[in-house]
Amino acid sequence: MITNQEFERVVGYIKRKSGIDLSEKKVLVQGRLDNYIQKSGYRSYNEFMDLVEKFPTGAEAEILLNALTTNHTYFWREYEQFLYFKQTVLPKLKEKEVSTKDWRIWCAASSSGEEPYTLAMLCLDFLGLEHLEWDTTILATDIDTNVLEKAVRGVYTKDSVENLPHQYVRRFFRPLNENEYQVRDDLKRQVIFRKFNLMEPIPFKKKLHVVFLRNVMIYFDEKTKARLLENIYDKMEPGGYLFIGSTESISQCHGKFRYIKPSIYRK
Ligand SMILES: C[S@@+](CC[C@H](N)C(=O)[O-])C[C@H]1O[C@@H](n2cnc3c(N)ncnc32)[C@H](O)[C@@H]1O
Repeated sequence: MITNQEFERVVGYIKRKSGIDLSEKKVLVQGRLDNYIQKSGYRSYNEFMDLVEKFPTGAEAEILLNALTTNHTYFWREYEQFLYFKQTVLPKLKEKEVSTKDWRIWCAASSSGEEPYTLAMLCLDFLGLEHLEWDTTILATDIDTNVLEKAVRGVYTKDSVENLPHQYVRRFFRPLNENEYQVRDDLKRQVIFRKFNLMEPIPFKKKLHVVFLRNVMIYFDEKTKARLLENIYDKMEPGGYLFIGSTESISQCHGKFRYIKPSIYRK
């Protein structure tokens, strides 16, 4: 059982480290941690948190953070945005970068990989054989090391893969068994997965053409969102595209991005 003081300690730690605001989520915190605390023999949450805070890069700190992120995602989520990406954004990018043949696309809270793999499929499909001349690698990052491992494995249930257009399933996946499909190597090579915490300074040297930042700002407060959006804005190419989740908004906390259509903005 977590005490109020312990709950506040966990909430404060997670907010400082990841920006995620769990202050109203006591049931969720307990639901995800009680079992682990008991099974591991801790006598209290404080005993666990002592260790987490003493070794912020240690295993317990990672387990805590991984347990308290929410990773829900699926293939072809909010597919109108993917269609806009393929039909409008990619043709413009191709024209603009014809001399460099270099696109810089960042999927900034990629969870278990469904979103960045979809972006990679759309790029390969759009460019056809020309893709061999282009650097279209997608950078996909998340703070949660469990989902990143799953993304790198690239194994998904048959049901989840079947959300995608059928020609993509045939071209980019191979059946592993009755219930599972694996992403083919040529698609895997198009996505680089890395651990990255959005609360840290963005380290990229070259500016980004497209940023997918979907369904992660809902966990942050307004101040955190505003700071993150400002950092991202600075790292984008003029005219670069920002995609956010359909239930999210940025207008109140960030006025610089130009609204294009629901959930799509430009620098
Ligand atoms: C609900 S998922 C969204 C996945 C995908 N973008 C989508 O829209 O389907 C949110 C993801 O954000 C990640 N996340 C939360 N806080 C983060 C932070 N501070 N830095 C990086 N990733 C974070 C979580 O680990 C989780 O995988």
